[in-house]
Amino acid sequence: FTCGTNAFTPICTNRTLTNLTEIHDQISGMARCPYNPLHNSTALITSSGELYAATAMDFSGRDPAIYRSLGGLPPLRTAQYNSKWLNEPNFVSSYDIANFTYFFFRENAVEHDCGRTVFSRVGRVCKNDIGGRFLLEDTWTTFMKARLNCSRPGEIPFNYNELQGTFYLPELELLYGIFTTNVNSIAASAVCAFNLSAISHSFNGPFKYQENSRSAWLPYPNPNPDFQCGTIDSGTYVNLTERNLQDAQKFLLMHEVVQPVVPVPYFMEDNVRFSHVAVDVVQGKDTLFHIIYLATDYGTIRKVLSPLNQSTGSCLLEEIELFPPRKRQVIRSLLILHSRSELYVGVRDQVIKIPLKRCSYHKSREACVGARDPYCGWDMLLKKCTTLEESVRMSQWEQSISKCPVRNVTVDGGFGHWSSWSMCSHSDGGGSAGSCLCRTRACDSPAPQCGGQQCHGISVEVANCSRNGAWTPWTSWSPCSTSCGIGFQVRQRSCSNPAPRHGGRVCVGQNREERYCNEHLPCPPHVYWSAWSAWERCNVPCGGGIQSRRRTCENGDDCPGCGQEYQSCNTLPCPELKKTTPWTPWTPVNISDNGGHYEQRFRYTCKARIPDPALLEVGRQRIEMRYCSSDGSTGCSTDGEGEVLRLGRISRHSVNGGWTAWGSWSQCSRDCSRGIRSRKRTCTNPEPKYGGQTCMGPAQEFQECNVTPCPVDGSWSCWSSWSKCSVTCGGGHYMRTRTCNNPLPAHGGDICLGLHTEEALCNTQPCPESWSIRVRHCDVLFPTGNQCAGNSSETRPCSPDSNFIPGSITRTQRAFERG
Ligand SMILES: *[C@@H]1O[C@H](CO)[C@@H](O)[C@H](O)[C@H]1NC(C)=O
Ligand SMILES: *[C@@H]1O[C@H](CO)[C@@H](O)[C@H](O)[C@H]1NC(C)=O
Ligand SMILES: *[C@@H]1O[C@H](CO)[C@@H](O)[C@H](O)[C@H]1NC(C)=O
Ligand SMILES: *[C@@H]1O[C@H](CO)[C@@H](O)[C@H](O)[C@H]1NC(C)=O
Ligand SMILES: *[C@@H]1O[C@H](CO)[C@@H](O)[C@H](O)[C@H]1NC(C)=O
Ligand SMILES: *[C@@H]1O[C@H](CO)[C@@H](O)[C@H](O)[C@H]1NC(C)=O
Ligand SMILES: *[C@@H]1O[C@H](CO)[C@@H](O)[C@H](O)[C@H]1NC(C)=O
Ligand SMILES: *[C@@H]1O[C@H](CO)[C@@H](O)[C@H](O)[C@H]1NC(C)=O
Ligand SMILES: *[C@@H]1O[C@H](CO)[C@@H](O)[C@H](O)[C@H]1NC(C)=O
Ligand SMILES: *[C@@H]1O[C@H](CO)[C@@H](O)[C@H](O)[C@H]1NC(C)=O
Repeated sequence: FTCGTNAFTPICTNRTLTNLTEIHDQISGMARCPYNPLHNSTALITSSGELYAATAMDFSGRDPAIYRSLGGLPPLRTAQYNSKWLNEPNFVSSYDIANFTYFFFRENAVEHDCGRTVFSRVGRVCKNDIGGRFLLEDTWTTFMKARLNCSRPGEIPFNYNELQGTFYLPELELLYGIFTTNVNSIAASAVCAFNLSAISHSFNGPFKYQENSRSAWLPYPNPNPDFQCGTIDSGTYVNLTERNLQDAQKFLLMHEVVQPVVPVPYFMEDNVRFSHVAVDVVQGKDTLFHIIYLATDYGTIRKVLSPLNQSTGSCLLEEIELFPPRKRQVIRSLLILHSRSELYVGVRDQVIKIPLKRCSYHKSREACVGARDPYCGWDMLLKKCTTLEESVRMSQWEQSISKCPVRNVTVDGGFGHWSSWSMCSHSDGGGSAGSCLCRTRACDSPAPQCGGQQCHGISVEVANCSRNGAWTPWTSWSPCSTSCGIGFQVRQRSCSNPAPRHGGRVCVGQNREERYCNEHLPCPPHVYWSAWSAWERCNVPCGGGIQSRRRTCENGDDCPGCGQEYQSCNTLPCPELKKTTPWTPWTPVNISDNGGHYEQRFRYTCKARIPDPALLEVGRQRIEMRYCSSDGSTGCSTDGEGEVLRLGRISRHSVNGGWTAWGSWSQCSRDCSRGIRSRKRTCTNPEPKYGGQTCMGPAQEFQECNVTPCPVDGSWSCWSSWSKCSVTCGGGHYMRTRTCNNPLPAHGGDICLGLHTEEALCNTQPCPESWSIRVRHCDVLFPTGNQCAGNSSETRPCSPDSNFIPGSITRTQRAFERG
């Protein structure tokens, strides 16, 4: 059953220990758990199922109460807003002891007249209280409280007023409490133990009573000094508490202070506040010891041996550090699991488990016995520090707890300062000695004490040792400086294996070696090109020609590259050349006029940009005509009155192209199933010339050929499965067939060759009734033929000796002729 503040809306849940994530039941946590997690509360559930919670009931925390709920008894609480009942309490713990429920807390002391003081209290209620009638309705009628005293005795006792934690040992009815000074005062803590009988004694004594707020607090005799909680008689609450309700309202605070078992607190320490306590009762060699575990406000645990007897004080055995010094956490709870001898420490986000018995830490007899730890003793047979249970025999188990352990402060060793550097010698193993710089430090500030740790680290530092240099191996020889003819090559080494250091010897010898090479490899004769000759004359004077130059290979003939080189030259266009033929002689023309005739003569003129006039072809033609009179008297005149006709220039005529006739068809591209053939013609009849038009239309023509489909050869299908025997006895036949349709022959392809039907005899054993059978079969012709009509077998009775030859196979075969 767990309660939580749940962000100021407290709830309680019911869970099974075996599965804490599973919630069985969830109820309001109001009055069972504070709203504010900082409020100090306590609660317990009795064996009969009632929940007693001492907590703040409201959001603001101004209404503290001890409240009973759940279970079978009516809910009850302390009177509300009555500082005589509870006055700003901080609840610490609660215990279910016999007929009562006890609450331990601290509160502002109402009875203290001057100033504000906190007192520690024990309060109790009867578990069978059912509240008052009319008076104290729903309120405790048995609530009483008493002050707990834990003080350092003296003329003016020093009070540790504020209870912080308790631990109850039921077997001894002994309650350990830790008390501190007020938070605003100097920190100091004490441990006091209270006998339950002392608490009961106080509750049976007189009350402290204040008549009214101005009167003093005075003792008032207890009206029921032998007060007992009543019994519950079969569910009827008759005279439960034997307490007068008016008394119960008036008398709450006991006059007598509960005094601890011994006047001096078991343990006191200044400058520290203890927050939690747990106590283990340990069987030592001679007696029982109480070991008190105290959680300090700075997150450690003190292990204290409670006083051996009245005269001695308690002993601080050890202080357990749970965390590294800078990571300490506030301890929130401290519990002992006696069955496993383990201490559980709760901090904000984890639980730490500490074994209580840790004897093996003590390695020597002196350390073991000297630790004065009741858990541990020196087993003289095992020669080690063991618990009593681990020991071989109790008589051989040495423990001596007559006084507190001498608390040797164990000191871990620490190094002092380094000495200054000084020369020291060393030998490098190879027999040669050198020098180094050395410095030392000692583990003496402080030196380890009482088992403290030795210093960790080096105490001698060596630096800058001398080291003799040594050669690296030679490098391999470098490549020869020549590829033929005598050259040289080198190899090197360096004094760096290791390099000499801090005064060590340098290496002796050369760091470089040279030698000749290629001594026996004469160079082949040297071939080389002569210089280029001058460029030769250009092969043309203009219009772009080429010219070359040459060089020759000297001393041989395998020079790389070419012996001749070309370049273009005289790339300027040639000047336009013109050439005119001389006139041809006059030739008569067949034109007569008035008995005279005409004559003609020609000459041609060509123009071109070429280098050589000889290359000029004749271009335009020039024609002259003249008239010659018939009588020849006047001769022929070429001008003026001579009537010479000048016909001007005549250009050549352009020629349009013409097709030749078509050539013959080419061979067809396929033998069947559509091929292609073609034929051609050329545009050479005549060829187009002098800018004439070329031929129109295609030069090649195509045509389909051999359009008939290709022949398909027939092929057989698979055999069918064998038919059933035609008879069951007396000799029948069975057969299988196939068809020439895979594929059918077509377009003149070949038909299938071979059998289309195969048959064999079967069931040739004579029939019992001596029937005989004969069969015929229908020879299937080409697969499309009709089946034969009629039966394929006939049967008749016969004599047993009928001539029947069993087992012979007949085959029918028909070959189809091609086509
Ligand atoms: C808790 O659970 C137990 C068993 O499931 C049930 O008997 C009991 O009444 C529950 N108590 C509360 C307070 O819910
Ligand atoms: C515990 O209870 C939760 C919730 O019912 C469930 O999911 C989970 O499996 C349980 N775990 C085990 C170990 O049974
Ligand atoms: C609860 O107790 C602790 C320890 O004594 C104290 O520091 C704290 O102030 C208390 N809480 C309240 C609300 O008084
Ligand atoms: C507690 O008181 C009872 C009765 O006075 C006594 O017998 C017992 O020894 C006391 N216990 C301690 C631990 O002092
Ligand atoms: C509890 O109360 C009953 C009845 O009053 C009484 O007989 C019994 O002794 C009481 N028990 C203790 C341990 O005081
Ligand atoms: C209850 O107890 C008181 C005192 O012991 C006694 O005077 C009274 O008669 C009782 N009442 C009943 C109803 O038994
Ligand atoms: C508390 O105890 C001390 C020493 O044991 C004693 O001197 C002092 O008078 C006691 N105080 C009260 C109020 O009883
Ligand atoms: C207890 O004190 C007495 C004297 O008061 C002493 O003789 C005895 O040795 C002490 N016991 C222990 C266990 O120290
Ligand atoms: C404690 O220290 C003293 C001297 O410093 C030494 O003689 C003694 O043996 C030490 N005791 C232990 C238990 O270490
Ligand atoms: C060692 O030699 C280095 C370089 O020579 C120098 O810097 C260094 O201070 C020397 N160390 C010491 C301890 O003298």
